[in-house]
Amino acid sequence: MKLCKTLRELQDAQHELLESRSGPVGFAPTMGALHRGHAALIEASVRQCAITIVSVYVNPKQFLPHEDFSAYPRSLEKDCEIAQAFGADLVFAPDDTVLYPFGFSTKVTPEGAAASELEGAFRPGFFTGVATVVAKLFQILQPEYAFFGEKDYQQLTVIRQMTKDLNFPIEIIPVPTLREADGLALSSRNVRLTAEERKIAPKLYEALTATKEKLLAGASATSACAEGADFLRANGFASVDYLSLRDAGSFKELPCVIPGFPARLAVAAHLGSVRLIDNIAVETENSA
Ligand code: PAF
Repeated sequence: MKLCKTLRELQDAQHELLESRSGPVGFAPTMGALHRGHAALIEASVRQCAITIVSVYVNPKQFLPHEDFSAYPRSLEKDCEIAQAFGADLVFAPDDTVLYPFGFSTKVTPEGAAASELEGAFRPGFFTGVATVVAKLFQILQPEYAFFGEKDYQQLTVIRQMTKDLNFPIEIIPVPTLREADGLALSSRNVRLTAEERKIAPKLYEALTATKEKLLAGASATSACAEGADFLRANGFASVDYLSLRDAGSFKELPCVIPGFPARLAVAAHLGSVRLIDNIAVETENSA
């Protein structure tokens, strides 16, 4: 497996790979600190594609000034070992001067409910940062398939729309969330939980599943989500940014479960210094 840090190294390595193999190129974008959830993206690409490229880049443009950019875990050597173990052919790990050279002045700003609400509202500029870097990586790497985790379902929705709007000839493939045995969704930020917080963290998934049951039993989103948020605050979470029922396609808010319309229940809450997000599908029997 090749590690490329510059565009020149990348071009040479891509050329070599494309000479030696025929078939589609798959891309798993990451910010590093790879865990089993990222490995699932790589595995999905390896299953479907002849060549798998993983990017490792902690994108400064998607962090707000007060967020954890400098504390975000970085472990390139270990990331390369994991990427290789799961069958990746190439890791692209550029630094800021490669992706945002002096004078860089273009942004991709997604709009609509998926980009402006929930994560978009609590983290203004986040989706512009994500869309800008993903558009650049799509342009540089030119994959046929790109693999995104459902753990960041809102991001997945924004990227799908951007890919369509900007005519990237890339198919976006969603990969289901992986969870610890106690339900906690795998996330690079989990390593920053203290032992005590780690015990509390699975309550996030518990709140999602309990709220889903209430919604499927006919409760309104307002009451079920308010109860879910109360449960989290009563169980050690400092605050809840949102617990919200959304249409799975557009990410627009839903007042209740609507038979035939797949929905997602999304949550973001603060535990100590860590902000955790998660979501689950909420579907009636006859949802697509
Ligand atoms: O989901 C992530 O890890 C990041 O938002 C992504 C897609 C790699 C862009 O920096």
